[in-house]
Amino acid sequence: MGKIVTIHSYRGGTGKSNITVNIAANLAGQGKRVGLIDTDLSSPGAHILFNIPPEALAPTLNDYLRGECSLIDTIKTSSVDNLYFVPASPREIDVITIAKEGFVVEKLVDGCYQFLDDFNLDYLFIDTHPGLHEETLLLISISDLLAIVLRPDEQDFQGTAIMLDITRDRLGVDCALVLNLIPSYIEINALTEDCQKTYTASVLGALPHIEEFFGSKGIFSVQHPDLEISQMFQNIAKQLVLAVNNE
Ligand SMILES: Nc1ncnc2c1ncn2[C@@H]1O[C@H](COP(=O)(O)OP(=O)(O)OP(=O)(O)O)[C@@H](O)[C@H]1O
Ligand SMILES: [Mg+2]
Repeated sequence: MGKIVTIHSYRGGTGKSNITVNIAANLAGQGKRVGLIDTDLSSPGAHILFNIPPEALAPTLNDYLRGECSLIDTIKTSSVDNLYFVPASPREIDVITIAKEGFVVEKLVDGCYQFLDDFNLDYLFIDTHPGLHEETLLLISISDLLAIVLRPDEQDFQGTAIMLDITRDRLGVDCALVLNLIPSYIEINALTEDCQKTYTASVLGALPHIEEFFGSKGIFSVQHPDLEISQMFQNIAKQLVLAVNNE
């Protein structure tokens, strides 16, 4: 049975989607069968990293949730072999409809299991909308690992404590941290140790703020395999595999 990994953060813009896509691509590059589902129905964005224009996305997760197609119909291949992607719709009407009417969370969970089973995935990555919402908590509760992404600022520190309290301590889900967007004046190893101690959680990796990475389109580590950040994603993927397999 494949593993479900949710990548989440308390606040938006921590780098969840980029980190998810790069780790997923790394594992697919190693021959694993990997799926990624964009469950951020309020502000979808992962399709940009897969270089799929909005007009080429249909059918999307939204169509599946409305009962208009099967989840399998929504799956896209990508430029990376063995990496499959389910997009959420960025169409205005779809975003507004989700905001007004919501959706049946259990159908989303069923879709995740179908993706995992029918595509014989080793890993299914769930990219999320930030914050604590009922649908995200349900997705987290079915995950083998929750990776919480945070930046080194007070609001993320406090938010991460809340997330851990609810997900690890109350739901009993295994959790790990990824530190991101670390400014150059902060010493990365010291920060990593601090977080490990403070949260009694393992840190899968810690990424500096990298100017050329900011706002990039596509899968950065695939486009720039020789840059140090690509090696960092490879290390995070390795740590994540160990954590999800409880090794
Ligand atoms: N280590 C980094 N260095 C520089 N820029 C980064 C880094 N990590 C992420 N970014 C940039 O930060 C922005 C936000 O990243 P991303 O969209 O992945 O975050 P997110 O957590 O998924 O956001 P949202 O909560 O809106 O879904 C993007 O422009 C991305 O390129
Ligand atoms: Mg995102």
